[in-house]
Amino acid sequence: MKGHFISFEGPDGAGKTSVLKALVDKFQPRLGQRLLVTREPGGDPLSEQLRKLLFDDRNRGMDDRTEALLFAAARRQHVVSVLEPALAAGKVVFSDRYVDSSVAYQGGGRQLGEQAVWDINAFATQGVMPELTIYLDVPSEVGIQRILQKRQNQVNRLDREALSFHHRVRKAYLRLLAQDPSRIQKIDATQPFDKVIADAGDVLRQFDPAIFG
Ligand code: TMP
Repeated sequence: MKGHFISFEGPDGAGKTSVLKALVDKFQPRLGQRLLVTREPGGDPLSEQLRKLLFDDRNRGMDDRTEALLFAAARRQHVVSVLEPALAAGKVVFSDRYVDSSVAYQGGGRQLGEQAVWDINAFATQGVMPELTIYLDVPSEVGIQRILQKRQNQVNRLDREALSFHHRVRKAYLRLLAQDPSRIQKIDATQPFDKVIADAGDVLRQFDPAIFG
């Protein structure tokens, strides 16, 4: 049985986590233990500790390159301890974010350069890449508005960045989409929630009808 690695991406406020939850509810009965849901930064104990460091408000002074390296370090540990064993065991892995997030947020948002961020992540991932990426697209203004309305108690250090930062993040995502249109499938996340889920289901069905059909 071949494993599948599918990542979910999007700017803050795209509704990615709710979409992922709905898709898990939809496919879990069929896939059972074969479905593994994980997230970045995080997914294993060491990476979850790095997540805490990355989002801790006490670390407001964190240097941008330090931030990029910590995301890459968390990713490395996640690859080795979660993703590779799961894929080797034939699991279907849904990851809430992966390397595209670093390219968009650190490369684009923080302006470290998309290629520089790819380079440190090539060291971290050793070529482990999703076969399919579902990208939930939302204009920055809409995304930020949603965060402020819905998640007031859980806004993180990155959510609080200026609108210009979020514009750069989205632009970088759209560049990634243009560079790799066969891997990355865009869904308009401003549509009603049920339509977003239906579109995501269609993308998954086309990707592997035997599993998601
Ligand atoms: P989320 O769990 O709500 O998706 O939040 C994760 C935050 O971390 C989000 O603002 C995007 C950010 N992030 C990066 O900046 N770089 C990365 O490599 C990853 C995985 C996430």
